[in-house]
Amino acid sequence: MKILVTGSKGQLGYEIINMVEDDEVVGIDKDDLDITDINKTYELIKEIKPDVVIHCAAYTNVDGAERDIDMAYKVNVIGAQNIASACLNVNSKMVYVSTDFVFDGTKNEPYIEFDIPNPLSVYGKSKLAGELIVKDILSKHFIVRTAWLYGKNGNNFVKTMLKLSKEKDVIKVVNDQWGTPTSTVDLSRAILDLIKTDAYGTYHGSNKGQTTWYEFTKKIFEISGINTRIEPISTEELGRPAARPKYSVMRNYMLELTIGDNFRDWEESLRDYLKA
Ligand SMILES: NC(=O)c1ccc[n+]([C@@H]2O[C@H](COP(=O)([O-])OP(=O)(O)OC[C@H]3O[C@@H](n4cnc5c(N)ncnc54)[C@H](OP(=O)(O)O)[C@@H]3O)[C@@H](O)[C@H]2O)c1
Repeated sequence: MKILVTGSKGQLGYEIINMVEDDEVVGIDKDDLDITDINKTYELIKEIKPDVVIHCAAYTNVDGAERDIDMAYKVNVIGAQNIASACLNVNSKMVYVSTDFVFDGTKNEPYIEFDIPNPLSVYGKSKLAGELIVKDILSKHFIVRTAWLYGKNGNNFVKTMLKLSKEKDVIKVVNDQWGTPTSTVDLSRAILDLIKTDAYGTYHGSNKGQTTWYEFTKKIFEISGINTRIEPISTEELGRPAARPKYSVMRNYMLELTIGDNFRDWEESLRDYLKA
């Protein structure tokens, strides 16, 4: 199988490329192709002729998207549209990576794939619009929603907290948003398993369990032996531009019903990540 990965310099794209063993893999990022350019996207995908495109490139700055609305839609919707059309042109499968931020957070138990999305932020709205456009264009699609991602490459919450622990005496962290930290290792495995099948559709792919950003930070520091003080605060006190769901825990129900859900508990994956 020939796999093309977009967003190869990002967290997830980088991990997926490293994990591929027996297949041929090509990674591209913004320097190789701006996915908002339809002609270049067509040309490159026609030239590479992949069996599957794992589309990890995205506009991922959740707060930035509130002021950079057109760019968020251009990358997350038009970019996804271009990739899907180009996949159709060469009869390739496509994975579109999406987010728990498509939900509004008003549910009291984990979201499944059959719950109705209602995003609160520009980022969430643009990612949902990307999902819908991919579904419209290409039947051979996997939409994989994930959450609170961290990996070796690029920036993430874990790295930010470890850095802040060296710079500050007290760190204030939000304690009223619930979700599930997810390792790029676990997610990459699930995506690489899914693309071997023809079980197209929408999937949730996050680690198991749930926590708040504050409790997540406590666990990061506990595992790393860090004593920096952490103070719980509310979303309102933090005052970020983008609204976020209070509760965006997901259950990997479609994986359970199809190829199996092999995601680990979030604490176990975090331990492995920090050890490495
Ligand atoms: N990170 C999370 O917590 C999280 C949670 C849920 C879902 N997701 C989804 O998971 C996927 C992977 O996320 P990630 O954390 O790996 O993202 P990431 O680290 O931000 O990587 C995204 C990559 O896309 C590239 N990109 C941006 N605009 C582009 C364009 N116009 N053309 C080509 N490439 C472009 C970026 O390049 P530059 O850096 O040069 O702009 C970057 O290398 C995304 O679809 C994201 O929406 C992420």
